[in-house]
Amino acid sequence: MKATVLYYSHTGRTAAYAREIAMYLWSKGLDVSLSSISDFDKQRLLKSDIVLSGCWTCGWFVIGQHPHRKWIDFSKSVADFIDEHKVMFFTTYKIRTGSMYSRMSRAMNMTRKRKHVFLKSKTAHLTDEDKTKLDIFIHSNMLTK
Ligand SMILES: Cc1cc2nc3c(=O)[nH]c(=O)nc-3n(C[C@H](O)[C@H](O)[C@H](O)COP(=O)(O)O)c2cc1C
Repeated sequence: MKATVLYYSHTGRTAAYAREIAMYLWSKGLDVSLSSISDFDKQRLLKSDIVLSGCWTCGWFVIGQHPHRKWIDFSKSVADFIDEHKVMFFTTYKIRTGSMYSRMSRAMNMTRKRKHVFLKSKTAHLTDEDKTKLDIFIHSNMLTK
């Protein structure tokens, strides 16, 4: 199973979280590619069984949370390359993520609410709960492969 982990990070926390996600998937036997959205070959998405895409949380800290414009533009440009069931989002934040999930979904033209496929972290460390969500996500995509 091929997994692509993509991230947009400003100070490195989202990149670190993406690395932890990639390492976990690799430990589960997946063929993993990890890359920043700025140096990514979109064609690779066509060969990916699952895609995990993440961005840091922007806003006014207590309200108006949204993904960064660069991540939104990138996501819109690749939305047609990926089946929505294959996608999981992640973010890092300091106070709250607010409407991050719905805005990330909107950027990729997702039609269904699948909030269980959303990871968020203040620390960039993968928790047991995150691992369980990843296990369920991998398993559900294996069944439909
Ligand atoms: C301009 C700016 C706005 C931010 N807005 C929020 C916010 O609305 N809510 C929040 O919880 N964290 C907010 N943060 C904190 C970042 O989302 C957090 O530090 C994140 O982990 C940074 O990820 P990075 O190291 O990958 O850039 C903001 C940070 C900056 C610089």
